[in-house]
Amino acid sequence: MGKLIHFTELNSTNTYLKENFAALADKTVVSADIQTAGRGRFNRQWISQKGGLYFSILLKPTQTDYIVNLTQLMALSICKAIEDLGAKPTIKWPNDVQLNGKKICGILSETITQQNGIACVIVGAGVNVAQRDVSYVGQPAISLREAGIFIDPDILLPSILNHFWQKYDQVLSQGFASLREEYKKRFPYLGKVISVKNGTADATGTVTDISAKGTLLLNADNGLEEILIGDLIV
Ligand code: BTN
Repeated sequence: MGKLIHFTELNSTNTYLKENFAALADKTVVSADIQTAGRGRFNRQWISQKGGLYFSILLKPTQTDYIVNLTQLMALSICKAIEDLGAKPTIKWPNDVQLNGKKICGILSETITQQNGIACVIVGAGVNVAQRDVSYVGQPAISLREAGIFIDPDILLPSILNHFWQKYDQVLSQGFASLREEYKKRFPYLGKVISVKNGTADATGTVTDISAKGTLLLNADNGLEEILIGDLIV
């Protein structure tokens, strides 16, 4: 486990690591009580009010073949930490965590490349923990508190990190295959008809599997499609 840096207020824990990665050690974790410019996937805003858990991990792995799967490892780790509290969260591929069918967590991973290759990966997560009302999210969302689970974000963070580090080396060396079974157990959309939006090529079809690479396999109108990235619309 690396060093933990905590801020009461920060623009964004991902942005902080992007701006300071060169000076910081591998596995540094940054967290903030509030983010004033929290960022989500596809350039969306991530409103970050007090009560939520906002953190990012700086990773400087030497093996980089499977870094795309670190986001899925984080989703699984957050599920496990929430399960430890007695709830039953699920994963909405690729990396949203849901509780009672509503979003409880989002993850944003960013990779910084330099002339000599990948300099670092930043895995950032926002978890709705102690907010009384998350209706500002603009999509069905829920906090642990709204689900009747009262926990401090600072207590939840070490539990998530424990689950993450437990599997980290394995994911770097073996990829999604080392998570697949545990991930699929928490993925309720197998056999369901869904749409995937990724801005360019949207697709609709029946989910047949999550591949050993962590991609979504869809039986669509024009045959089997492998989806690498996107937002699942269910
Ligand atoms: C999403 O679902 O769109 C991903 C949201 C990721 C939000 C987290 S909060 C901590 C870290 N810092 C950010 O600015 N974003 C991520």
